[in-house]
Amino acid sequence: MTAPAGPAASVESARVLVTGATGAVGSAVVGRLEAAGHEVYGVSRRGAPRPRQFAWHAGREEPPPALRGPWSAVVHCAADTRWNLPAEQAEEANVAPLRAVLALAGPGTHLVHLSSSYVTGLAGDIASHSPDAYRNSYEWSKAAAERLLHTERESADIVRFPIVVGARADGALDRYSGFFWLPSSMCSGAVPALVAEEKALLDIVSTDDVAEHVDRLIAGGPPAGHRLTVLGRGDLAQRVDEAFDTVLDALNDWRAEHGVPLLERLPYVTPQQWNRFYLPFAEQYLDRAQLLRVTAFRAYQGYLSVTEPFDITGRVADTRPVLFRSIRRWAETHETSARRVPRPWKA
Ligand SMILES: NC(=O)c1ccc[n+]([C@@H]2O[C@H](COP(=O)([O-])OP(=O)(O)OC[C@H]3O[C@@H](n4cnc5c(N)ncnc54)[C@H](OP(=O)(O)O)[C@@H]3O)[C@@H](O)[C@H]2O)c1
Repeated sequence: MTAPAGPAASVESARVLVTGATGAVGSAVVGRLEAAGHEVYGVSRRGAPRPRQFAWHAGREEPPPALRGPWSAVVHCAADTRWNLPAEQAEEANVAPLRAVLALAGPGTHLVHLSSSYVTGLAGDIASHSPDAYRNSYEWSKAAAERLLHTERESADIVRFPIVVGARADGALDRYSGFFWLPSSMCSGAVPALVAEEKALLDIVSTDDVAEHVDRLIAGGPPAGHRLTVLGRGDLAQRVDEAFDTVLDALNDWRAEHGVPLLERLPYVTPQQWNRFYLPFAEQYLDRAQLLRVTAFRAYQGYLSVTEPFDITGRVADTRPVLFRSIRRWAETHETSARRVPRPWKA
């Protein structure tokens, strides 16, 4: 799957299209490529009130004429990262847009496709077409997108990475989703326990890690074939309990400064204990709202029980400091949620 870099000369100033340019990762990629001197165009479903930013719902409508190229490089960051879409919608959200983006890329365009370290699902590779081989329809559709690249393009960079937090300098993130359910749930008391394997690995990267890597790829020119890079900490990733302690420390650091009662450490329950004993018991006693929150939380179990490190090709710097800063930054920008005092659970 991995191919050596092609013979292309290094690219000093390229005309680059970034899809998903308003997203958590895409906005960091745009900033980094602009700082490197490239002429960067961005696209997202809703667009943005900035120069060279366009609205286009890729996969659903024709691209605006300004996006037709030619492009030196296209960085495809657009995705719908929700885990619970029905298969057909996940396909429409993560495969159809890639197909539309491929039509904008000529044979000489350097295509960089962003993917997820979790794309290998439960089987450990992207070969299976069956949804059963993946944790959810998001992974399944991202695997289908990678397969599409292999069949439709002779040359492409595929960049996989795990959970994304904010910038290394200050934790800033343009969009808080995914992982940020955790601080929010800890403050609201939405979860009564952490359903996780304490010693599992929670691999994390910062938006800078991805953006800097994409910048280096573009500077080096397109690869001769399909080149896969996997960013992360691998076997040096924080353990789940360490990462959760970092989140708790960051929240309490902010809460102490703002005179809000400190949060207590939540107890750990293994997924097996939870599913076998706690959940059936809880189902008898919790009200509908509590049950909804508890069952929604179930979707995270698969991500908090990964004991095999990702097979990384590029190790990022320690992520504890950036996780701490990102959670503090989340608290600063979500003050109402961060100030909440969890109510004890009672049936
Ligand atoms: N965030 C993570 O933890 C994480 C981890 C691993 C991999 N990834 C991958 O990293 C990439 C970027 O993710 P992200 O977290 O930055 O996502 P995000 O914050 O949810 O942003 C998604 C971006 O894509 C745009 N978009 C979605 N569907 C589109 C479509 N059909 N046509 C045009 N634009 C569309 C959105 O535009 P609107 O806002 O206008 O809808 C937005 O700009 C994705 O490939 C994702 O799979 C993310």
